[in-house]
Amino acid sequence: MSPSGPPPLRLGVNIDHVATIRNARGEAYPDPARAAEIAMLAGADGITAHLREDRRHISDADIDALAALTRKRGRPLNFEMAVTREMEAIALAHRPHAACLVPERREELTTEGGLDVAGQHNRIVPVVSSLKAAGIRVSLFVEPLAAQIEAARSVGAQVVELHTGAYCLAVRERRSDANTLMMALREGASQARSLGLEVHAGHGIDFETVVAIAAIPELAELNIGHFLVGEAIFTGLDAAIRRMRTLMDGGREAGGGHRAPGSRFDEAAA
Ligand code: PXP
Repeated sequence: MSPSGPPPLRLGVNIDHVATIRNARGEAYPDPARAAEIAMLAGADGITAHLREDRRHISDADIDALAALTRKRGRPLNFEMAVTREMEAIALAHRPHAACLVPERREELTTEGGLDVAGQHNRIVPVVSSLKAAGIRVSLFVEPLAAQIEAARSVGAQVVELHTGAYCLAVRERRSDANTLMMALREGASQARSLGLEVHAGHGIDFETVVAIAAIPELAELNIGHFLVGEAIFTGLDAAIRRMRTLMDGGREAGGGHRAPGSRFDEAAA
């Protein structure tokens, strides 16, 4: 970690599941771009969207709209993508602020594990290089495993996003291995930072798990989606994001860090 202490913690809001609801009826609503507008007003530092190969939620037109919107608002778009020629071409056409490379299997319900960077080194290197050459910041979504984090550095990524899914599920199921899984995240974050990588985290984060995750001092960004869209049904998206921001900023402060500049800690008190 830098001698100046933990980096500010940013919130990326993933709006994929607004599109899931829209697509369930083949209608034009709810609009993910409208959700992105609300998210940015509510305290999201950036917007994350995953264009899956099967287009089950976000569509190509959504990416066009989100790229234009985030550019207009001066906020980063984090484009989650599989390591394929098709997705590489779409990323190069849009030049989002960041691209997060994720594993994808058509039959999975969600991104179930991290990318096997160590096992797919030769496939990943050219994609990382071409995205970086276009000025896109490259992040790799990995399990908090030493070999994967080391491989992420060796393929030239600037960022790793640690998969928090296993930890979050263990907490929700009140399982005793939650502490061990948290230790793995902490060790992974520390290793990644010491290798010079920026460290993000995401998947499965809710109001409960965000506090301990935000306290990991090396983290610079959390990406959160499914829980927020679910919670929006009950409280509205704006309130759900404000509450997440409050909890996340509180967790970061309790962990000895500081808030991202401009985060709405005071206004967001739920
Ligand atoms: N980060 C990555 C790399 C993801 O693939 C996802 C899910 O699309 C998320 C974060 C957000 O996860 P969730 O929707 O469970 O909050």
